[in-house]
Amino acid sequence: MRLTVIGTGYLGATHAACMAELGHEVLGVDVDADKIAALAAGRTPFHEPGLEEMLRRNLDSGRLRFTTSYEEAGAFGEVHFVCVGTPQSPRSDAADLRYVDAAFAGIARHAAPGALLVGKSTVPVGTARRLADAYDAEVAWNPEFLREGFAVRDTLRPDRLVFGVESERAGTLLREVYAPVLAAGTPVVTADFPTAELVKTAANAFLATKISFINAMAEVCEAAGGDVAVLAEAIGHDDRIGPKFLRAGVGFGGGCLPKDIRAFAHRAAELGAPLGFLREVDAINMRRRDRVVELARELCGRPDGSVMGARVAVLGAAFKPDSDDIRDSPALNVAARLQLDGADVTVYDPQAMDNARKAFPLLGYALSAEDALRRADVVLHLTEWAEFRALDPRQARQWVSRPCVVDGRGVLDAAAWAAAGWSFRALGRSAPGGEGKR
Ligand code: UGA
Repeated sequence: MRLTVIGTGYLGATHAACMAELGHEVLGVDVDADKIAALAAGRTPFHEPGLEEMLRRNLDSGRLRFTTSYEEAGAFGEVHFVCVGTPQSPRSDAADLRYVDAAFAGIARHAAPGALLVGKSTVPVGTARRLADAYDAEVAWNPEFLREGFAVRDTLRPDRLVFGVESERAGTLLREVYAPVLAAGTPVVTADFPTAELVKTAANAFLATKISFINAMAEVCEAAGGDVAVLAEAIGHDDRIGPKFLRAGVGFGGGCLPKDIRAFAHRAAELGAPLGFLREVDAINMRRRDRVVELARELCGRPDGSVMGARVAVLGAAFKPDSDDIRDSPALNVAARLQLDGADVTVYDPQAMDNARKAFPLLGYALSAEDALRRADVVLHLTEWAEFRALDPRQARQWVSRPCVVDGRGVLDAAAWAAAGWSFRALGRSAPGGEGKR
C-alpha cells in the first residue's frame, strides 16, 4: 500500500521505517527540513537500537522516502498516519494540540478522495470526533504503545493493535496495513473513537500509577526500616500484581508519562469525571526527586545541610537507559537543583551528553564515569545504564574523594559497595543503623 507518515519524531520515524519494512511504499512528511534531510540521508535524530539500520535498508530499497510537501503526500498516499507530538501546553496541564491540528489541516487539504486519515498521536478524548467533523475525509484513531529503546520491536510485534473506526472500510484498510503483524497473532481491539483515545491515556496512567505506588511504598519503607526491593519482589509473585513496573527509584520521566497523566487529569476534570488520584501519582513521583536531593545533602555531612562547593557526580542524564532522551529526566532535574544550591555538579551519560549539554549548558560534564567520579564528595546513580551497574566499587573507591553513593535506581549491589568502604544509601531502604531516618 502507499502510506504517508506525518511527523517524523520518535513515533513517526519508527512507524515510517517499520511500515516500509512490512513491504509498504512509505513517504515520511515533516515541516522540519533539517530532520527530513537527516532521515533521507539515513540518520535518525535520536538514539534507538536497530532503527537506523532499518531506515537505511528501506531507503536503499526505494520503499521509503521523505518530503516536506503536503501536496506530494496527498497525491501519494491511500492511508495517512498522523504521528506528531502533543506536548504539555505552556500555561496549563492540557495537551497542546497545535501540531495535530496543523497536520490534519495540512493533509486534509491535499488528500485524495477516499483516503483514510489515521491519528496515532496521544490526544485528549474527543479529538478524533472533532477532527472527523471538521474535514471531509474519513478519520480513524490507532494509538501507539511503543517504548523508547524498544520502539522497533514494539511496532512490529505490539502486544495489541487498537483500531478506533467508524466504518467497516476503515477497519479493512487498517487490517491491510497491518496484515503481517496480524498474521503473527497480534490481537486487535476495535473500538469507537473515545474508547480508542482513552485506551492510550489509560494505559500510560496505569503504568505511572504502578510506579508511583511502589515509590509510595518506598517512602513507607524508608520511614519504617523496610526494604522496598524485597517488598516489590514479594508482591510481584502474585500474578494479579506482576513484577513489571515495580522498580522503585527516582521515578518516571520522559516525553510521555508525566505529560500524559497531567493531560488526562485535565481532560477528565473538563468532562466532569475527575481523576484526582493522578495528581497524587504525579506528586509522589516528584517527591522522589526531592528525596535524592535530601540524601545528597545528608551524605555531604555538613552540620548546616549545605551542599555549597561539594563535588557531586551524577551518573546518568537520560530519563531511562538505552535512550538519549532527556525530556523531563529525573537525573538532570536533580543535578540542576543541586547546582542551584551551590554544588559543583558533574554529569556523565553514555548516550545523552549532547542533549544534556544543550538543555543544561551550565552543568559540568565528564567524558566517562571515571572522569565524573574523580574527586567527588557524593556520587548519585540516577539512570540505570548497564555500564554503571558494572562499576567495580573497589576501583571506584580509588577515584572519589569521599566514598558516598546514592543508588537512585535500586540496582547497585549494596553489600558489595558497602564492603568496598562506601556509605551507601538507596531509595526505599532505611539508613544503615536504624529505621525512621527520613
Ligand atoms: C511509555 C510507555 O511505557 C509506552 O507504552 C508508551 O507508548 C510511551 O510511554 C508513550 O506514551 O509513547 P517510555 O516513555 O518509552 O514509554 O518509557 P517507560 O519504559 O515506560 O519508562 C518511563 C519512566 O518510568 C522511565 O523514566 C523509567 O525509568 C521509569 N520507570 C519504569 C520506573 O521508575 N520504574 C519502573 O518500574 C519502570
